[in-house]
Amino acid sequence: MTTYAMELTDVGYRYPEGTVALDGVCMKAPEGSFTALLASNGSGKTTLIKVMAGLLKPASGKVSLYGTPLASLSARDLYGTVGVVFQNPDDQLFAPTVAEDVAFGPRNQGLDESSVAERVNEALASVGMLHAEGRSIHHLSFGEKKKVALAGALAMRPRLLLMDEPAASLDPAGEVEMMRLIGNLNRVDGVTVVMATHSIDLLPLFANEIYILKKGQALRSGPADEILSDHELLHGAGLRLPYVSSLLHQMKTYDGLPLDGLPLTVGEARKRFLELIPDGVFTGRKSDDAER
Ligand SMILES: Nc1ncnc2c1ncn2[C@@H]1O[C@H](COP(=O)(O)OP(=O)(O)O)[C@@H](O)[C@H]1O
Ligand SMILES: [Mg+2]
Repeated sequence: MTTYAMELTDVGYRYPEGTVALDGVCMKAPEGSFTALLASNGSGKTTLIKVMAGLLKPASGKVSLYGTPLASLSARDLYGTVGVVFQNPDDQLFAPTVAEDVAFGPRNQGLDESSVAERVNEALASVGMLHAEGRSIHHLSFGEKKKVALAGALAMRPRLLLMDEPAASLDPAGEVEMMRLIGNLNRVDGVTVVMATHSIDLLPLFANEIYILKKGQALRSGPADEILSDHELLHGAGLRLPYVSSLLHQMKTYDGLPLDGLPLTVGEARKRFLELIPDGVFTGRKSDDAER
């Protein structure tokens, strides 16, 4: 039997005033995977992240972390394994300086001061914020705060990172940078990632498995190429195709463009277009080494 980093079985959650925010959600995140929760606003993403982080107790169903029921883990064991990054960094950052904030977790775990300093350096370096270690939290931009909040989670060396819209409200370059950073943590450092996100155009580059939520239910899950090319599914969930796929979907539907499947990224679309264009049409080709 496979043991999953995070496994949810029939999870339900209802807020005290009566809103049913989660209804029978099943999810499996294998060790080393990058799982995305994609849904329109109010679908239950944040509630689900909080349930997985042990901050909300599900009304029904089971939540297991590496095969152990979450409810039976101590806070110390839980937060030694799971790093949580909330959507709004201001809910997470509270120390006066960047370094103090990132030091909070490891210090709380009882590490000695030289190990704490090592963790702080390592975590800030991995998000590209080592230069800001002495700065006041209040003087950081929103994007910088997001990176410091992520560093705070990384300082605990988590095996699993739970993130609520880590790239939301960043400018376009910041969104790409954040997604790349998380992608590298996953692929290079082997951290298992589960994130709620709206970054439809970037997900095909990073996610192994995408769950589509609607009204607290997991409508469908599957690999990016299956889920993000399903116009009906996405539309029904209040979402859209990636822009590149949308262009090609229209060209297939209305102009008879002969394509099997639907490219999801600019790089894939470029390759497929080049295959369709007769040899010799382009003479100024510069490189095969383009983005994916
Ligand atoms: N603290 C709360 N009290 C009552 N209802 C809530 C609370 N937080 C969220 N909800 C409701 O639960 C549902 C799911 O919300 P949420 O998990 O925040 O969705 P998402 O993160 O996908 O936007 C929504 O209907 C929302 O209004
Ligand atoms: Mg939310």
